[in-house]
Amino acid sequence: MIKIKLHKNGRINEVTAGKGDNLLKVIQSFVNGFYAPCGGNGTCGKCRVRIVDEGVVTSCLYEVEKDIEVILPDDQEMKVLSSQYNFSEDVVLNPGDAALLADSPVGVAVDIGTTTIVYYFVDLKSGGITDIVSNVNPQVKYGADVISRINYTAENDSGTDEMKYILIDNFNRVTSEFCRKHGYKKEDVARVSIAGNTVMLHMFLGVNALSIAHAPFTPVFTETRKLKPQEAGLDINKNATVILTPSLSGYVGGDIIAGLASVKKDFYKKQFLFVDIGTNGEIVLVTKDRMLACATAAGPAFEGANISCGMSAVTGAVSSFRNGSPGVIGDAEAAGVCGSGLIDIIAFMLDNGTLSMEGNIESDFTIPGTDIKITQQDVREVQLAKSAIAAGINRLLSIAGISVNELDNILLAGGFGNYIDIRSAIRIGLLPDVDTGKYIQMGNTAGNGAVLALKSDDFIPEMENLKKKIEYIELSTDPEFSMEYAMNMFFA
Ligand code: FES
Repeated sequence: MIKIKLHKNGRINEVTAGKGDNLLKVIQSFVNGFYAPCGGNGTCGKCRVRIVDEGVVTSCLYEVEKDIEVILPDDQEMKVLSSQYNFSEDVVLNPGDAALLADSPVGVAVDIGTTTIVYYFVDLKSGGITDIVSNVNPQVKYGADVISRINYTAENDSGTDEMKYILIDNFNRVTSEFCRKHGYKKEDVARVSIAGNTVMLHMFLGVNALSIAHAPFTPVFTETRKLKPQEAGLDINKNATVILTPSLSGYVGGDIIAGLASVKKDFYKKQFLFVDIGTNGEIVLVTKDRMLACATAAGPAFEGANISCGMSAVTGAVSSFRNGSPGVIGDAEAAGVCGSGLIDIIAFMLDNGTLSMEGNIESDFTIPGTDIKITQQDVREVQLAKSAIAAGINRLLSIAGISVNELDNILLAGGFGNYIDIRSAIRIGLLPDVDTGKYIQMGNTAGNGAVLALKSDDFIPEMENLKKKIEYIELSTDPEFSMEYAMNMFFA
């Protein structure tokens, strides 16, 4: 008998299987309702799991041959996966010349986030995702946000080159490790698509992004870029095409345009908000006749920075707080609080009266069973962050002349949006107070968009057409935004 360790929701269970058993069936015999929308036909790619020491596999196509450890998506990830499947577009495979460049062509779609870089390796013959690798953006040593990194490039002659080199080196290292692990040659890497915020796209090309840091925040380029690997410094097939997704402005980047274009077309018949909360909050409002976008500087509070006990959403982070008790990632000892936990705790403090509407507390709040404290300054950081997002949303609604109740949906994009408790986010005034059924946690839309741009040349004009329809609203010079910002500082 073969032993299979299944990791799920921070717990490990051991099950047995016979040699040659189908892994999806083994998982489904243990996890009721495990997500497999194509019924195990190998076409939807949603039954992917991670096998320790092997990487990501499509479980319905995998036969068990030896003892393995399998990391299953947790319940919230399953919910997001099902949203991605139900609410995201797909494309017919059309990767241009890439299919002719190698016998087994593979493509790399990259979502370069300020904090995390995610790589999706795609088989360009089948369109299936072969592996997903994520790592911390090594630029974080120069600061958590894009402004600190731009400042570094302003103060150091070689700064722009250093920032580029870090990203290129990361790409080459991760891609070469992927090739080694899966038996590809670097010449098999035949197409690359890159989505990222505008600053990251500039840095990837070694273009100085200083103009984005100062009013009027004008980027050097916003258009789609197509180039050869050697122009970027990528060590892959020299005839491959490298595509950078188009940006709208200095702070609404190619990650937002790619993500928005990946949303199912049905949504565009309705009215919706698309919100991506990170160090900057990017917000797009789609109404029956207009599309408006803005960006607000939320600061890094929701990423755990500037919070006395803050940390990223990794093992040991308090990521939820329900009924007065903390939920800790990985069932480990609590070491700090990440953004989603912080929002739950602030909502709890408001409900139990230890936090006033003005945001004042009489003493630090200690998380039960730990010595982790939320301080007055931590509350202030949350107030700043949540009012920036709320004010941006209100401003777009007001410019479009619609009320929040006229929205059909609110789509939450990005890692942070996946894990927040919507009720808590509404309670603290971060997100609009509408029926929670209207909210959809979409997962990594930027990554989705990058994969679609990799899989099909036809997706590129789709992104560009969408970009042309969006009006960018600059909030930094908008007095009504400043008023909204001040008004939303309080809790209700
Ligand atoms: S269930 Fe659809 S690919 Fe496996």
